[in-house]
Amino acid sequence: MPLPICYLNGDYLPLTEARVSPLDRAFLFGDAVYEVLPVYASRPFRLREHLERLNRSLAGIRMSAPLSHAEWAQLCQQLIVRNSAREAYLYIQVTRGAELGRNHAWPENLRPTLFAYATALEPLSPTVLEQGVCAVTAADTRWSRRDIKSTALLANILLKKLSADAGAFETILLENGDLTEGSSTTVHVVKGGVIRTPPNGHHILPGTTRDVVTELAARLTLPCESGRITETALKDADEIWLAFATRGVLPVTSLDGAPVGTGKPGPLFKRMSTAFADYTRELAGIPAL
Ligand SMILES: Cc1ncc(COP(=O)(O)O)c(C=O)c1O
Repeated sequence: MPLPICYLNGDYLPLTEARVSPLDRAFLFGDAVYEVLPVYASRPFRLREHLERLNRSLAGIRMSAPLSHAEWAQLCQQLIVRNSAREAYLYIQVTRGAELGRNHAWPENLRPTLFAYATALEPLSPTVLEQGVCAVTAADTRWSRRDIKSTALLANILLKKLSADAGAFETILLENGDLTEGSSTTVHVVKGGVIRTPPNGHHILPGTTRDVVTELAARLTLPCESGRITETALKDADEIWLAFATRGVLPVTSLDGAPVGTGKPGPLFKRMSTAFADYTRELAGIPAL
């Protein structure tokens, strides 16, 4: 459930009262970028990394950063305090703004629209951690700049709906016989004790949780590599994990109706999941930036 107070263009107000112009380019063209970041113990997690990715997305659509990191941090803090948020996630969006009219090529003098709100993070059902989630595969039908975290998510939502229709949690995407990522997650594959994930580039979003997994694997002295993963390797995995900001890491135990490994969350997943939870607790009280 969204929490009641949001931020819109400099004001904090009830989310139910927030209004933007129908001529906003986000509404007309999906001309906007966004971030989603978790809050653990009232502290934004990996704030710097999310803001750096936001600025890279903005640069990717030829916009400059509307706020400094310190100003974003202050805004996030306000949303947390005004909503008494403890375990939550924040959504922040920057659109190119509105003009009186509709032109594909935008004028240069637009004032960006800034919007942010918080949602309570409900505890994960224990069955998900005990039994894992199901995924299906599909061809990756998205554009060629998936590293830009754009709100133009039509392909992603159509792909996600395929898994929902199949009673599964995620659609894992394949392109030219290789794994790219999930419709809203980074995918890791474990085989023979080695964790692998596709390399960053224009073809996937550089996941913030992916980097946490890499760091925690080093702590746990588990081999973790970035490299090409074929469809055959995906289907032959001992373990498959989904990594994403709102849930950390989740185990996939069924892919296209077939069990992954033993069909239960694997031993490396359990170690990674525990390390993840420990890490978020360690950070409590440490400044977010
Ligand atoms: C397409 C896509 N890939 C990967 C991710 C994971 O990124 P992060 O770990 O920063 O949430 C997301 C998150 O929403 C996503 O939408």
